[in-house]
Amino acid sequence: MTVWTSETDDILVCRQVRHETADVKSFIFAARNGARFEFVPGQFLTFDVPVGGGIVNRCYTISSSPTRPDRIAITVKRVPGGPVSNWLHDNMRPGCEIRATGPMGDFCHRHHRAGKYLFLSGGSGITPLMAMARETHDLALETDIAFLHSARSPADIIFRDELALIARHLPQFRLHAICEADSPGERWGGLTGRLTADGLRALVPDLLSREVFTCGPAPYMAAVRGLLGLLGFDMAHYHEESFDFGAATPEAAPAAPAGDTPVFRVEFTRSRRVIDCPADRTVLEAARAAGMRLPSSCTRGLCGTCKSRIATGKVEMKHAGGIRQREIDQGLALICCSKPLTDLVIER
Ligand code: FES
Repeated sequence: MTVWTSETDDILVCRQVRHETADVKSFIFAARNGARFEFVPGQFLTFDVPVGGGIVNRCYTISSSPTRPDRIAITVKRVPGGPVSNWLHDNMRPGCEIRATGPMGDFCHRHHRAGKYLFLSGGSGITPLMAMARETHDLALETDIAFLHSARSPADIIFRDELALIARHLPQFRLHAICEADSPGERWGGLTGRLTADGLRALVPDLLSREVFTCGPAPYMAAVRGLLGLLGFDMAHYHEESFDFGAATPEAAPAAPAGDTPVFRVEFTRSRRVIDCPADRTVLEAARAAGMRLPSSCTRGLCGTCKSRIATGKVEMKHAGGIRQREIDQGLALICCSKPLTDLVIER
């Protein structure tokens, strides 16, 4: 069976839209040619979303499980004023096609073998952890997982029924939801307010011996890091994922280079394009200025979307954690934060 790869066909076809909560939808996609999807839970796709007459790249974590490889799903919260999430909510329908790159990312509990895990999610940050929970359920694994999800209200708990079902089927899977407030139609009988150090310790008394995976808005993750610090948690066992890039993805052309700045030749082997890149610009900036459309999202060296192989030549890269040393050793680079030191040949 063919495996979907964005290298050969980057089109996904929407098969279904599911309404999860009042402002969250899941979009279920298939490959056009019936290919199957191979990924690990926690990975993400980067979509080309047609917004405002241009294309905006945006990363969304896969919320489905690799145990169901004929489809791949993302789950998106509508963000007030957010052009991409609003476009998806308003326009994506069964039959629509959209370009995507990936799967990418290494935020996965499988990569960190541990006896016990603690999953902490806030709002729509539940998606990568849900993919891990779904896989654990489908494979009937006996993995010890404590799952704490924070939501605004009971009506905002994404995948609420499915998580309850998983908790019923898997004795080692313990679920706790914490709501800030009641819903208009439901009084929350569970934990209320925000996560605190005392609350965390009471819910998961053995948390210091667990491998922790956290995903949510940046303030949520900062709060979690603070709580774990207060509790004396060893942060070597802490992992987090966020696509909260704030005001990232600057599209504006940078200022023209100074006259004495060296300019290097950059050849892209797959797209068969050759561009000039001044030494004071990133390869991505120069490619965009030349009209090339290359996958990118954060433009800060965080997300890994622009990872590319440098076949020949050298770059100066200032990344922010989106690439591992062993990948750098293998000749990969993040072109959004890499400036040329020589002429380059890039496999893109
Ligand atoms: S675009 Fe995110 S690392 Fe380059």
